[in-house]
Amino acid sequence: MGHKLAFDADRPVDDRYGPPECGELDEIADVLADGRLSGGAPVVASYEQALAAWFGVKRAVAVNSGSSALHATLVALGVRAGDEVLVPATAPVPTAMPILTCGATPVVVDTQPGSLAFDPAHLNARLSPRTKAAVSLPLWGYPADDAAAADVLAGAGVPLIEDACQAHGTIVRGRYAGTSHRTGCFSTHDRKLLSTGEGGFILTDDEDLAERIDHYTHLGHLTGASHGVNYKLAAPLAAIGVRRLASLSEQIRNRRANAARLLRVLQDGGPLIELVHDQADRPNYYNLVLVAPLALARPLAAAFVRAGLPPDSIRFGYRPLYHRPIFSTFAAACPNAEQLTATTFQLPVHPGMSESAIAWVADRIRVAAEGQSE
Ligand SMILES: Cc1ncc(COP(=O)(O)O)c(C=O)c1O
Repeated sequence: MGHKLAFDADRPVDDRYGPPECGELDEIADVLADGRLSGGAPVVASYEQALAAWFGVKRAVAVNSGSSALHATLVALGVRAGDEVLVPATAPVPTAMPILTCGATPVVVDTQPGSLAFDPAHLNARLSPRTKAAVSLPLWGYPADDAAAADVLAGAGVPLIEDACQAHGTIVRGRYAGTSHRTGCFSTHDRKLLSTGEGGFILTDDEDLAERIDHYTHLGHLTGASHGVNYKLAAPLAAIGVRRLASLSEQIRNRRANAARLLRVLQDGGPLIELVHDQADRPNYYNLVLVAPLALARPLAAAFVRAGLPPDSIRFGYRPLYHRPIFSTFAAACPNAEQLTATTFQLPVHPGMSESAIAWVADRIRVAAEGQSE
């Protein structure tokens, strides 16, 4: 094992989830036997149909990454150089990079206190005649209820797309994340709940938009009528996706059960609570996310690091987007996002974790929390 694991040494928890074998090799063997390995192979169309059926939408377009999904959607919605795209300040780099790829400007918007959802008042203040789209973000698979923001955007005629790259199966207002607004963009990178190694897809009920995305991502179908790129997903990766999609629901059930076990450790009135979401909404538990009061965030982060469970703020230097050099010129006052990024703790709860690994994490949460309450 050449690279350093995030959770290493004598720590029994690996945050990477490798799903058990589920017939992917048979599916790939069929693709090899068929001989068509490109994005035009029949298995890619089958995968798209299976995705659309699973999520309950009219169309799914498979592409080669979540970044491609976001970029192609922005292009298909008409985002061009000089336009502005609204994005929550909590967005990680990959959410905003495709905006730069369009030559457009990311306009950061603060979130509601303790939430991943856009602050509608700040969103309204950040609209301009150049605003062409907004990207909402159910980060860590947690529901971001953007209904209020969606109303503001609808009034301004600005399309809302969801970066649901971490949110396969998350439920917001009774629907899957990524299915309530103009499009949902998903990644199937190795770390995601549905993994094909690299890959992604776009969901939409808008047939016309789906056609435009399909056209753009397939080199304009070689007609030369309009500009296009090659973002096609290769057939062997679609074959993996077809098989793994079949066990996505079970994986999410497992994650929810593991999260529930860890949440039972939290004491009423203790320093840690779960990231708040509506009771009817359901995270997919890409991570279990706990939140501490600001005054206790630093000592708790240190305690989690000592425990071998470093939060994203330590592992990835996770901060509001404009703390990164290439986004620094887009800085705006976003106090709620500043607080959220500094006070959240992300824990693995994937089905690959054994009983003893979950018990170990539960124990580490207890120790970290007890160290702060007296
Ligand atoms: C929230 C979010 N957006 C976008 C992306 C980009 O996806 P990909 O790595 O498949 O390009 C990722 C994954 O890295 C992500 O987690």
